[in-house]
Amino acid sequence: MSIEAFRIVGGKKIEGILKVEGSKNASLPIFIATLLEQGIYILNNVPNLMDIRTLIKLLESLGLIIEKLDKNSYRIINNGIKNIEASYELVKKMRASFLVMGPMLANGGKARVSLPGGCAIGARPVDLHLKGFEALGADIKIDHGYVEAETKSKGLRGSKIILDFPSVGASENIIMAAVKANGVTIIENIAREPEIDDLCNFLNKMGAKISGIGTGRIEIEGVEKLTPCNYSIMPDRIVAGTFIIASIMFNGKIKVEGVEPECLESFLMKLSEMGLKYDFDSEGLFIVKSKIEDMVGTKVTTMPYPGFPTDLQSPLMTLMCLVKGNSEIKETIFENRFMHVPELNRMGANIIVEKNIAIIKGIKEFSAAKVMASDLRAGAALVLAALKSDGETIVNRIYHIDRGYEALEEKIKFIGGDISRIKEEI
Ligand code: UD1
Repeated sequence: MSIEAFRIVGGKKIEGILKVEGSKNASLPIFIATLLEQGIYILNNVPNLMDIRTLIKLLESLGLIIEKLDKNSYRIINNGIKNIEASYELVKKMRASFLVMGPMLANGGKARVSLPGGCAIGARPVDLHLKGFEALGADIKIDHGYVEAETKSKGLRGSKIILDFPSVGASENIIMAAVKANGVTIIENIAREPEIDDLCNFLNKMGAKISGIGTGRIEIEGVEKLTPCNYSIMPDRIVAGTFIIASIMFNGKIKVEGVEPECLESFLMKLSEMGLKYDFDSEGLFIVKSKIEDMVGTKVTTMPYPGFPTDLQSPLMTLMCLVKGNSEIKETIFENRFMHVPELNRMGANIIVEKNIAIIKGIKEFSAAKVMASDLRAGAALVLAALKSDGETIVNRIYHIDRGYEALEEKIKFIGGDISRIKEEI
């Protein structure tokens, strides 16, 4: 059996602009929110990614009609939910599929959604989602691997919910359920990730009444009806962070278009602590003004937003390998998110993991090797390392990377990188 891989030859002269696409993690819940009301929606700045295609299949299976208008725009026609079951075959491919439960409950009062199961980076349960639906008055049953949820005769009713942990998915799912509930819902300790703000802004554009957006306490006054609208998705802050690291690794030869610094504060602060100097040029492009050889190691702990994002810990680790001194990354969000470490070590890195802490010792350069992407962000970390390696690296299992980085190889080729998509036997 063969599988797609990237063949990357490091050490090439790299120069140019990397453009950040629309946010995957904002697109997914916003697409799903179109289940809330019948009518026609247009979504723009949607990244052209495998995860979006997977989600479209799921939404089509529930009865939506989705037309691609161009590479990054879609028309979504909701003529009513025709099927209340999100199947295991579709949900297992992408955990965010579980978010269909909230809007289906809010709209039709019923949903049957497969439990997503674990994934490579951790167990990832959905207990917080379910507690939230129960607080809103839904009956929940688990049956043969599916969650069956149903509202009582009067539909969902507003309630106060305090999340045990600010889970991104649970926050989004509960918000979507609550926008059409009877009465007021207050959600405390809600996740504050910018993608949740984007979802709330979309919902408010449809006529929802959500206040407290961007704070840890959101108040939602339920409305009877929403109005479909057009919306443009925010830029992807994780892709922006990955490209910023590439720019640092190539001493500013890469400029990055589409960086929203207010969404990346903790990330940029950590990089500043490591010695990064940066600015925006007259065209709004992010420019690096320091040299990687002047940067030093630091300590990072991943946290819910506005703390350091877990999604940027693996790309940052690649950078940490190439700076002076020691660094430390403590992962607190997912229990198994260091699978890129043995792969980076195969490329000459010097990283030791003890429980949820990785200690990284600086090295001179990466040595090219055959490595394997174990998840989306781990894959990005390996591509970055390969670009700075001393020869030909093969990064296997790039289907992970295709889930979340739009046209990565074209973008890298465009700035002078030597990268091609090949088939590898496994
Ligand atoms: C989202 C992002 C993902 C990011 C993560 C953390 C999307 C599509 N994905 O994932 O890229 O890495 O946020 O920023 O937006 N948990 C529970 N019970 C629950 C829900 C979550 O225990 O009901 C735990 C998870 O196992 C995990 C932690 O909470 O350890 C964070 O998960 P969560 O914030 O829900 O992440 P996702 O929404 O899955």
